[in-house]
Amino acid sequence: MSSSSHPAPSAPTHVIVVGNEKGGSGKTTVAMHLTVALLKSGFSVGCIDLDLRQKSFWRYLENRAKWGVAHELSISDLPMPRFLPVNGSNHDSRYAAKRLEAEELTRTLEEFSDCQFLVIDTPGADTHLSRLAHMHADTIVTPLNDSFVDFDMMAKIDPATGDIKGPSLYAELVWSARQQRAAAGVPGGIDWIVMRNRVQATNARNKVAMGEKLEALSKRIQFRLGRGFGERVIYRELFVNGMTLLDLGSKGAPRKFGSMSHLAARNEVRSFLGNLRLPIVAEALEAA
Ligand SMILES: Nc1ncnc2c1ncn2[C@@H]1O[C@H](COP(=O)(O)OP(=O)(O)O)[C@@H](O)[C@H]1O
Ligand SMILES: [Mg+2]
Repeated sequence: MSSSSHPAPSAPTHVIVVGNEKGGSGKTTVAMHLTVALLKSGFSVGCIDLDLRQKSFWRYLENRAKWGVAHELSISDLPMPRFLPVNGSNHDSRYAAKRLEAEELTRTLEEFSDCQFLVIDTPGADTHLSRLAHMHADTIVTPLNDSFVDFDMMAKIDPATGDIKGPSLYAELVWSARQQRAAAGVPGGIDWIVMRNRVQATNARNKVAMGEKLEALSKRIQFRLGRGFGERVIYRELFVNGMTLLDLGSKGAPRKFGSMSHLAARNEVRSFLGNLRLPIVAEALEAA
């Protein structure tokens, strides 16, 4: 399906923020796969990269655009989102810098008001822009490596008993975003989905322990668990050409990926998209 299969939206743009204060948890990989999955389902998608230092999402999208131009691909061969930069402020006054950043983000969000979805990638750090983006989220997606080091960003565990003691850094950030959204009178809450990333086929004991802790935590701080991505080398190879697993085998994809069978990996990305329960996506997935 091409990116123009669905008519222009009458509903407001659905904002998806991919966040976790832990670097290397898979935010950019998930943001890119989510973007292409939505494009391939026929939706108009906007993208913002708030990781102003690494800019990996921006570079991923640029690589995709450059690949398309170099190979004279049409938008239906290689669907592209719209992406715009947001710059942080270097103003001497912290107060003024925050105000300028808020204004710039608001302006950029308005630029995307004709898109059905907006995917915002965030840095693995607590920044002012990232906090603002979380407040605008309709859906937050948090990829989490299958490790208790990463779990520590979500909740503190009592080392003596193994019990969850309470939310920690990132969970508190989401809680505060939910509070501020409610206080601002924005209708609807934030749907928060945590997905495990780089899940290994081996190391069963750790996998089970993580699963149990996440299950318990999900009830306590209100998130849903989504289908995770397995540990696969292919995820690391796709960046250079701006590709995703969903592009493999299509006309726009580099031939080196075309012959490989990555059916299971593609299915996990599709199931993940289904787990998000995004408005209008379910129907499109069924029709595809
Ligand atoms: N499921 C996966 N299997 C293998 N490698 C992965 C997977 N997800 C992410 N990676 C790799 O892990 C590294 C960090 O991922 P990235 O998406 O950049 O994380 P973040 O944006 O949270 O810093 C990258 O090299 C990426 O290619
Ligand atoms: Mg990143």
